[in-house]
Amino acid sequence: MTALGRTTIAILGAGKGGTALLELFTHLPEIEILGIADQVESSPGMVYARQLKIPATHDPLSLIRRPGINLIMNVTGDLTIDQLITTHKHPETEVLGGAASKVLWDLIRHQSQTQSQLFQAEKLAGMGTFASGIAHDINNPLYILLAFAENILEETDIPTIHEQARSIIDAGKRIQGICQNITHYARDKKYLNPVPVNVDDKLKEALNIARYATVLQDLSIVRNFDEKFEVLANPDELLQVFVNLMTNAIQAMDGRGTLTLSTWCQDGIAKISISDTGRGIPKENLEKIFEPFFTTKPPGKGTGLGLHNVKEIIKKYQGDLNVESQVGSGTTFTIEFPNSAII
Ligand SMILES: Nc1ncnc2c1ncn2[C@@H]1O[C@H](COP(=O)(O)OP(=O)(O)O)[C@@H](O)[C@H]1O
Ligand SMILES: [Mg+2]
Repeated sequence: MTALGRTTIAILGAGKGGTALLELFTHLPEIEILGIADQVESSPGMVYARQLKIPATHDPLSLIRRPGINLIMNVTGDLTIDQLITTHKHPETEVLGGAASKVLWDLIRHQSQTQSQLFQAEKLAGMGTFASGIAHDINNPLYILLAFAENILEETDIPTIHEQARSIIDAGKRIQGICQNITHYARDKKYLNPVPVNVDDKLKEALNIARYATVLQDLSIVRNFDEKFEVLANPDELLQVFVNLMTNAIQAMDGRGTLTLSTWCQDGIAKISISDTGRGIPKENLEKIFEPFFTTKPPGKGTGLGLHNVKEIIKKYQGDLNVESQVGSGTTFTIEFPNSAII
């Protein structure tokens, strides 16, 4: 242990195993990663480490020789590296090699698969809330489409037929757009490692889905996008965070009120807030809302898993989530991301 009580770690090997360890340890404040080494500069762990500003080197020996390392984890599977470690490591440095590192990696992989299945299950269960909003939005173009199609059956004037066919195509495209938004969101995640994600774009994408949370009556949307920035995250998970927070906000307003989306940067930390003018959250519920299965909504409207997953996802990226609420006047959720860059 170091003076601060943190365990210092060096990872050798930046393939799947090294990347998984890197991902796990960056979420644990009591562990400090001093560096990662791999001969292949472009391996995923090396790229990820550089994004996180963790030293990444192609020379394992320089890392092994470094003083102050509590634990070396070797996931290279390379016997010559084992020998290098034995010969050159500092006497006080411990080593977790081959089989032990693999067991740890298997455990991490199992845990992260379970967690991502939970995120996906919540997303699909939550989509039931959108059914009536989607049906409402599809109904209008569908009505136009049927009315013009019936007209065409009787119409003999070719220019009029063409004009009505164009309206049918437009209505069809609107329905297609709705379906694309929804099916894209329902799909399981395709990204494995975090990548830089444009926050403004993700907020817009999320709004295209969350708007179906209720049949919109009179909703104004205010966007205060101060600075454009990217955060290092899984784009699908970030979308799920925004969709969940916006869905809650829109539901809290029953489709009537103002949804304010703000982004700004403070002391190098990206901040995103989603604010509504809805019914608010009573003080006694403020602690409970992040607990799994806590919901004040009737069946079919809520699962009680939304905010729990939002918090878990944000924690995964060393971020923070805060809530301020006033019963009767509204609620603001603020997300903070340390791994961000202004673009
Ligand atoms: N913006 C909000 N305004 C008012 N209440 C909210 C808001 N966001 C969350 N809540 C409260 O927190 C509870 C839990 O939210 P969540 O975990 O998303 O589950 P669900 O939406 O399925 O109920 C909600 O049932 C609601 O009571
Ligand atoms: Mg919810």
